[in-house]
Amino acid sequence: MSAASMDVIVSLCKRRGFVFQSSEIYGGTGSCWDYGPLGVELRNNIKRIWWRDFVQQRDDMVGLDASILMHPTVWKASGHVDNFTDPMVDCRECKRRFRADQAGTMDWTHYCPATKGNKFTIKGGERCPHCGASRTLCPECGKGELTAPRQFNLMFKTFMGPVEEDAAVTYLRPETAQGIFVNFDNVLQATRRKLPFGIAQIGKAFRNEITPGNFIFRSREFEQMEIEYFVNPHDQLDGRPADEAWHDRWIAECQSWFTRYGLDPANLKLHEHLGDELAHYSKRTVDLLYRFPMGWNELMGIANRTDFDLKQHAKFSGKSLTYFDEERKEHLVPFVIEPSAGVDRALLAFLLDAYQEEEVRGEKRVVLRLHPELAPIKIAVLPLLKKRAEIVATGHDLRHRLARRWLTLYDDTAAIGRLYRRQDEVGTPYCVTVDVKTVGDPDKGEAGDGKVTIRERDTMQQIRVPMADLETVFGRLLDAGTSWSEVAAGYPRAEG
Ligand code: GAP
Repeated sequence: MSAASMDVIVSLCKRRGFVFQSSEIYGGTGSCWDYGPLGVELRNNIKRIWWRDFVQQRDDMVGLDASILMHPTVWKASGHVDNFTDPMVDCRECKRRFRADQAGTMDWTHYCPATKGNKFTIKGGERCPHCGASRTLCPECGKGELTAPRQFNLMFKTFMGPVEEDAAVTYLRPETAQGIFVNFDNVLQATRRKLPFGIAQIGKAFRNEITPGNFIFRSREFEQMEIEYFVNPHDQLDGRPADEAWHDRWIAECQSWFTRYGLDPANLKLHEHLGDELAHYSKRTVDLLYRFPMGWNELMGIANRTDFDLKQHAKFSGKSLTYFDEERKEHLVPFVIEPSAGVDRALLAFLLDAYQEEEVRGEKRVVLRLHPELAPIKIAVLPLLKKRAEIVATGHDLRHRLARRWLTLYDDTAAIGRLYRRQDEVGTPYCVTVDVKTVGDPDKGEAGDGKVTIRERDTMQQIRVPMADLETVFGRLLDAGTSWSEVAAGYPRAEG
């Protein structure tokens, strides 16, 4: 299990510039978040490696970037106008709104008649220990009656063009998937792909969640990394219908992607949707769950959407969205396997899993053991003495050189021990220290050795490396994936 509670991660994120509350100086907006200098790097790294691994390195995938605002009929065809709803109830007194299924499980406020109306907060689902009452009124204010449940559509409505009239109503997309379905034929014609092939997209999605929360886990504006993988359902693969076999392959691919970049397999498990849980378009859906501090929750979903979406869009648009199977000489509507991941949830899981506290020489060390490909800053250049002009100049020069290839930071605002701790806490895998031996000491007639110390974050081992070798060393460590122990074996150890 991760050592981190949500509070610890929220505090780290704010303190070190990963995530801020949106519009904080105005009191914050309900569940929207801003990514700070380190957050935006981590986020970009997640998206970059996802795109590289699932699009660029495969020969059966292409990419797409569709617009957020789409023709309103898209959402009628997809079922979102009619089905993308949650039942909710309103308090007649304080006007707060709750998801109907959650009002009964929340902690509730109670003015107890058996204790002269004293106010108590009682655990969700439990009775008052004094009067034995169970909750009937608003869980928040404890006074108002709740309305009967009403369906509430989670899509954000807006108007296209200068006139706010019904004809101009459109929606902010609640998933990126539909942009892919409506472009299926465009991509097919443009790329002449044969089934099976997939179209990937990364982009913002918006949902007017009634109960957002748990930091960036559930927000109203978030980003998705989605793949729609089109399969010929008449084909056989691994002795089964191709859509079923591809579904299992994608489940395994997604799970191993998250563990490859650092998630502990013990913190991941699969959840099969059964009965009512299954969306109206799905033949089978499996969620990949992560053990978040608030319990096991969905990190991503992998659904078999069958031919539902393409058929719906064909029906509503009047355009054929079929594929011609040359072998069987037949037109067919492909089935779709959809691995759909949230960037923000992935970022939260990577942070939680990487966070560790340990004791080093009697002091607490906080370290984010982020995979080097995810780490926001790859290298920190730290001068040992900032009073020595040659040390500072060499440090700046090195940062400039290394920054051409990797995000490199120069910091001389504290003593070296403190600077190391700061970098450990944000997951920087390597620190480069410039010291007197590097530049020499003219007063003592000593020449510099032109070497710097590289310190590795996880082992805290240090090696002494000629400055001329730095690009080669970091190329091996950060680009070629060579292990620290292998690289370190080629250089003398430096004192810690
Ligand atoms: N196209 C399928 C689809 O959108 P979903 O399970 O509703 O399926 C997919 O969403 C993923 O998007 C989720 O597993 C989660 O990672 C992310 N996601 C969904 N709603 C979110 C929200 N309100 N805040 C943050 N991430 C969310």
